[in-house]
Amino acid sequence: MTYLLWCLACLISYVQLFSSPNIAFASSLEAEALLKWKASFQNQTKNNLTSWGYNPKENTSPCNIWTGISCNTAGSVNRINLTNSGIQGTLYEFPFLSLPNLEYVDLSLNQLFGAIPSQISSLSKLIYLDLSRNKLSGKIPPELGLLNNLRVLHLNENQLNGSIPQEIGKLKFLVDLELSQNHLNGSIPTSLGDLSNLEFLYLQGNQLSGTIPKEIGNLKSIVDLHLSQNQLNGSLPASLGDLSNLEFLYLSDNQLSGSIPQEIGNFMKLTELELDANNFSGYLPQNICRGGSLQKFTVGSNHFIGTIPKGLQNCKSLVRVRLEGNQLTGNISEDFGAYPNLYFIDLSHNNLHGEISQLWGQCPQLATLRIAGNKLTGSIPPEISHATQIHELDLSSNSLVGVIPKDFGRLTSLVKLMLNGNQLWGPIPSEFGSLTDIEYLDLSTNKFNESIPGIFGYLLKLHYLNLSNNKFSQEIPFQLGKLVHMSQLDLSHNSLEGKIPSEMRTMQSLETLNLSHNNLTGLVPTSFDEMRGLKDIDISYNQLHGPIPNNKAFQNARMEGNKGLCGNVGGLKPCNHSVEHKHTSRKAFLIIFPILGTLLLAFLAFVLIGRRRSRRKQEREIEQSNMHDSFFSISNFDGRKMYGEIMEATNGFDVVHCIGKGGQGSVYKAKLPSGSIVAVKKFHQTLDGEEGSRKEFLNEIRALTQIRHRNIVKFLGFCSSAHHSFLVYEYLETGSLAAILSNENEAKKLDWSTRVKIVKGVAHALCYMHHDCSPPIVHRDITSSNILLHCDYEPCVSDFGTAKLLNPDSSNWTALAGTYGYVAPELAYTMKVTEKCDVYSFGVLALEVILGKQLGDFVSSFSFPSTTYANILLKDVLDQRLPPPTPQVLDELVTIARLSIACRHSHPQSRPTMHMVSKVLSFQPASSSRGPDDTTLEQLIKI
Ligand SMILES: *[C@@H]1O[C@H](CO)[C@@H](O)[C@H](O)[C@H]1NC(C)=O
Ligand SMILES: *[C@@H]1O[C@H](CO)[C@@H](O)[C@H](O)[C@H]1NC(C)=O
Ligand SMILES: *[C@@H]1O[C@H](CO)[C@@H](O)[C@H](O)[C@H]1NC(C)=O
Ligand SMILES: *[C@@H]1O[C@H](CO)[C@@H](O)[C@H](O)[C@H]1NC(C)=O
Ligand SMILES: *[C@@H]1O[C@H](CO)[C@@H](O)[C@H](O)[C@H]1NC(C)=O
Repeated sequence: MTYLLWCLACLISYVQLFSSPNIAFASSLEAEALLKWKASFQNQTKNNLTSWGYNPKENTSPCNIWTGISCNTAGSVNRINLTNSGIQGTLYEFPFLSLPNLEYVDLSLNQLFGAIPSQISSLSKLIYLDLSRNKLSGKIPPELGLLNNLRVLHLNENQLNGSIPQEIGKLKFLVDLELSQNHLNGSIPTSLGDLSNLEFLYLQGNQLSGTIPKEIGNLKSIVDLHLSQNQLNGSLPASLGDLSNLEFLYLSDNQLSGSIPQEIGNFMKLTELELDANNFSGYLPQNICRGGSLQKFTVGSNHFIGTIPKGLQNCKSLVRVRLEGNQLTGNISEDFGAYPNLYFIDLSHNNLHGEISQLWGQCPQLATLRIAGNKLTGSIPPEISHATQIHELDLSSNSLVGVIPKDFGRLTSLVKLMLNGNQLWGPIPSEFGSLTDIEYLDLSTNKFNESIPGIFGYLLKLHYLNLSNNKFSQEIPFQLGKLVHMSQLDLSHNSLEGKIPSEMRTMQSLETLNLSHNNLTGLVPTSFDEMRGLKDIDISYNQLHGPIPNNKAFQNARMEGNKGLCGNVGGLKPCNHSVEHKHTSRKAFLIIFPILGTLLLAFLAFVLIGRRRSRRKQEREIEQSNMHDSFFSISNFDGRKMYGEIMEATNGFDVVHCIGKGGQGSVYKAKLPSGSIVAVKKFHQTLDGEEGSRKEFLNEIRALTQIRHRNIVKFLGFCSSAHHSFLVYEYLETGSLAAILSNENEAKKLDWSTRVKIVKGVAHALCYMHHDCSPPIVHRDITSSNILLHCDYEPCVSDFGTAKLLNPDSSNWTALAGTYGYVAPELAYTMKVTEKCDVYSFGVLALEVILGKQLGDFVSSFSFPSTTYANILLKDVLDQRLPPPTPQVLDELVTIARLSIACRHSHPQSRPTMHMVSKVLSFQPASSSRGPDDTTLEQLIKI
């Protein structure tokens, strides 16, 4: 057999050399061999080698006709470039022996699996071999060492195992060797030191062990050396100090120890030096920015001692600096200067002292500044707030004194602020109200005093707030109830007094609540019954009394040290009957006489108001306005009748009928006597406010009942009484898009074309609301939870509860916020809600449909380092629960991804209108002239 193949090869060369009329014959043999390989692929329809065909009668030549095939002047194949061609198959049938003239082979970005055959060594003219980003496994064949013309060898991002063969050292012309992100083990072969012209060596992301051989120091031409994320140990060879052409040196995430060659400081072209997460000790090179091009200097989580390199002070090129988790000492007041490009710096957990330099304020790009866990003294300089791009500021666990500067109000990009564990005092400045992007705020363990300001209620994105261990006094501001995303709230160890505000029930995301060690009085509000998310409660050491709420979380709550809490929980005395009775009888009354009892209710409200003199003014106003409330409704039905029927069908809004819960209300399923099923959205709060604004609201609601569109849930009516306000909608059996996407089995049923259909439907609905309604209607809260599906998965936009008609003359702001992750960024700065906010949310939603989860969740679940995002294409990040889309559908998904990017533009003016979006999607299948799928993960995320 081998003999026969060898003869065939002779024959081909013979033909090429001597008989030009027979060129076609030569290439047709090559064509035949290639077709045999192609025939071995799985899932033929998924690759795009459709131009590969062969008609024996015509002696077809593959040259320049077949996708990815080029030939030399003699008509023999010398280049195969099939990168990203959807190939699923092995290299076992690859015609190594039939293609003796191959020089360039690029098969990257396919789904090749199995081993690399050792016959590859017969491609003796090979200059360029790229098999990266496939699923190849097994060992790297030592026979590769025979390809002695090879300049570029890319086998990265496969599943190759075993060790790196010594024979690679024979590839004398090799310039670029990339074996990163495989499962390679063993040590780095010393023979690599023979590759004297090597410029790029990428071995990161393997399981290489042992020491870095001193022979690496022979690679005098090396520019990029990446050895991160392995298990290398021992100290660095001194010869590393000879590699003076190095621009990029990455050694992070190994177990390397000892000191680093001080010569590294003299490398004139050094641009990035990454040594994080090793066991390095000794001093850092003082002159580290000698060439003036250092951008990245990250040496965190080691045991470095001594001072911060002096060379950093005037190193204007710096972008990213990590020195955290070492034992660096010295006064940092004057170690750092002003840096035009600095984006990230972490100096935390060292032994640094001195004051915070005001020069940080002169770093216009600075997004993250962390100096936690040092010995900083003095106060926080107000000048720091000139760095308005700061997203994360962590100065925790130092010895800072003084007040928080009022100028902090300028740091409107802040997402995370940690000043805990210092000696800061004074009130929280009211300027904090402008930090509307903030999500995480820790001011605990300081000496802040006075009251907790109500402006915290404007920080609508907060999900973590810790004010514990301070000297805050007075009442807990009821405005905190607006923080619907709050999940952890700690106000413990202060001197707070008064009642726990009942408004806290609207913090529907709250999981952990600590109010212990304060001076809170009164009853724990019964409204806590509704807070289903609560898991962990501590209300110990206050002056609380009365029955504990009917909420499971209170079964395990810490409640000791109070005045007289009662209930059926271990450690508490059972409640005395009369108290409990009072509660339940009132509830029952409200349920049984919802409509006719208005008069009685008014009386009751009057009595209650009389009793609760101590309640705050706001609450009194609400109750008084309820007193004047009468039942009204807008619908095509008899409203009064419908009200009664709904109360009956839901058994007075019993939880067993509840099918969903949101920030403003709960949704119930109600089967009316007529047999029709409706969805009822009941607001947590009853409709209050002045007569005028209520009228306006009702007019708006009336307009919503006029809307008819196949992709908008039918709105049937609205009812309000003294104690319930609810909206009535058509009921859709299949449930919400969010529920389906989060369910493995259901999500699989939502195939690619269905997902395209859903995105289109939502676009049409929004287009209708924005452009066909006068005045336009902005939804304000487009999320996957608000997209309901018919049984044929036709989408229906629901929940106009938050929609308000756009009145161009008035301020459009209401306290109702959209949903975290979907809210347009400008809402942090302006109060103006426009159609463009919906366009933004639509962009978020569209991407969620094709990724299968929300972008934020997607990124955090993604296992690749963010540096590779620019190389990851859309098709690789599509919802993995579905099989890959056909090329036509992929085209549509690419269009959706691009629209999503445009819709999420940070400038509202630059976003397309829904009319444009809807139009592009409608004409989608007809136009096929779009470019290829070159949308990368980086673009999708917009890092
Ligand atoms: C090929 O397609 C079939 C059916 O579409 C699928 O079950 C199989 O997993 C695919 N093979 C590969 C390697 O993706
Ligand atoms: C293969 O083609 C791609 C794009 O078509 C190109 O970027 C790449 O450089 C080519 N590879 C070779 C070895 O020519
Ligand atoms: C092959 O198809 C993919 C999409 O499946 C496309 O991105 C790629 O550019 C195509 N490659 C060639 C060589 O046409
Ligand atoms: C290397 O990979 C091959 C193919 O996946 C596998 O059969 C073999 O067990 C692996 N060897 C080691 C040492 O993991
Ligand atoms: C709690 O309130 C009581 C009565 O007003 C007062 O005597 C006591 O000092 C307060 N305790 C704290 C810790 O503020």
